[in-house]
Amino acid sequence: MSHFASGVTVVTCLRADGSPQGMTCSAFTSISLDPPLVMVSIRRDGRLHPVLLAAGSWAVSVLAADQAELGRRFARSTRDRAQQFEGVPTSPAPSGGAPVLDGALTWLECRTEHVTPAGDHSLVLGRVLATAGTETDAPALVYHRRRFLDLTGATDPGRGTRADGGRDVPSTSPRPGAPRHATDPRGSSH
Ligand SMILES: Cc1cc2nc3c(=O)[nH]c(=O)nc-3n(C[C@H](O)[C@H](O)[C@H](O)COP(=O)(O)O)c2cc1C
Repeated sequence: MSHFASGVTVVTCLRADGSPQGMTCSAFTSISLDPPLVMVSIRRDGRLHPVLLAAGSWAVSVLAADQAELGRRFARSTRDRAQQFEGVPTSPAPSGGAPVLDGALTWLECRTEHVTPAGDHSLVLGRVLATAGTETDAPALVYHRRRFLDLTGATDPGRGTRADGGRDVPSTSPRPGAPRHATDPRGSSH
């Protein structure tokens, strides 16, 4: 599996006492556009698992290339739960208030629709309640062969042509810092 390159997210939610919990997660995927559904796979013996299931709503922050340190931080099993967000700028997601990491490429706020046990993980299907809906040219953080990499460009000879045959439109949108209220999440694409 280490040969499969993936993006990197931090999945977050709030505990019953209102304190934040987060975990680095690359098993994140878009499932359906209508209705808008995404899925995360969360290890059952991790600390996030019971908190996420109890919270019902959660956020996914898609990390930018310059956020590798956050990817490392939220994957460290020895991190102190109470201090894991110390010095990490966040903004509350609009519906449930799960912390969204400032500077992320984009974010989604989700409500749990269904949980399927799958071996030592649970597949958590979430309905997208809100998303940043912005575009940015900032490079994504990529995880490959246990290393964080900076995805700066394509090796595809058709560079500039989208996989669906459309043209890349250079974005003039500012990079998201604080989360914005949702645009229609169905506007997003795989
Ligand atoms: C790049 C990367 C991606 C990861 N993706 C996942 C994932 O998709 N699901 C998961 O359960 N753990 C994943 N992990 C492992 C958790 O982040 C790690 O076990 C973490 O310490 C669990 O935190 P917790 O025990 O506080 O829940 C990933 C780790 C890294 C470095």
